[in-house]
Amino acid sequence: MKLLENKTAVITGAARGIGRAIAEKFALNGANVIITDLAINADVENFIDELQKKYNVKAKAYAFDVSDFNACQDFTEKLLKDFPSIDILVNNAGITRDNLLLRMSEQDWDMVIKVNLKSVFNMTKALLQHFMKNRSGSIINMASVVGIGGNAGQANYSASKAGIIGFTKSIAQEVGSRNIRCNAIAPGFIETPMTAQLPDDIRKDWMNKIPLKRGGTPDDVANVALFLASDLASYVSGQVINVCGGMRM
Ligand code: NAI
Repeated sequence: MKLLENKTAVITGAARGIGRAIAEKFALNGANVIITDLAINADVENFIDELQKKYNVKAKAYAFDVSDFNACQDFTEKLLKDFPSIDILVNNAGITRDNLLLRMSEQDWDMVIKVNLKSVFNMTKALLQHFMKNRSGSIINMASVVGIGGNAGQANYSASKAGIIGFTKSIAQEVGSRNIRCNAIAPGFIETPMTAQLPDDIRKDWMNKIPLKRGGTPDDVANVALFLASDLASYVSGQVINVCGGMRM
């Protein structure tokens, strides 16, 4: 039996990058997958078709802004009509607006906190009652190693990711008695469109800090998400797992 057979997973920000790799990994392991993102283009529609054909699972995409509380509520209402039982929520959507604090605008601070941190509250709150009714659920939040160690030029992003870690540990304590697990993944430097924008000197600097001497792949992160989503992790909750090639922050 596949690790996620008969399970259904919601993955936010899954049109590309790490979220997309998680969607594919979950489908490969038997899960129905719900992809959400700001916009769903033809490329994502093709990806959905491919998942259904290749892995014989159900897949569907929904476009909405996870930083908008009401949009998350509306999405959940629609979702539960299409998929009556949801087992896994991966809060993956995230953005960067890097700058030194002296130059960081209020708008860039607010935007990063809203998209990265408030979205985790929005989506978890929208699905929590459903998980409680089912007496089962695995929530996986995408944090970052910079949420643990900080990073110059990323005060907004680091604060949002540190907030996610505090949220994860609190929710694990609140709903553990209902058999709902909540964990975070803290990726290091992963090769995705997000990190492709970084200048060469910053990329080199990251590589030098990584004992495994390579950037991570979205698949490296998806493997850990698979573990946390599955019953292999049935006694793992309130944890942060670093996926960072051994980097020390
Ligand atoms: P990405 O930029 O390739 O993908 C992020 C996705 O989130 C995009 O498809 C984007 O459209 C979507 N998104 C952004 N704002 C949204 C919103 N308001 N509503 C719905 N969807 C929205 O990024 P990547 O690299 O795949 O990152 C995924 C997650 O992993 C993020 O939370 C990021 O902070 C985290 N992460 C990434 C690392 C890396 O090195 N790539 C390192 C540590 C953490």
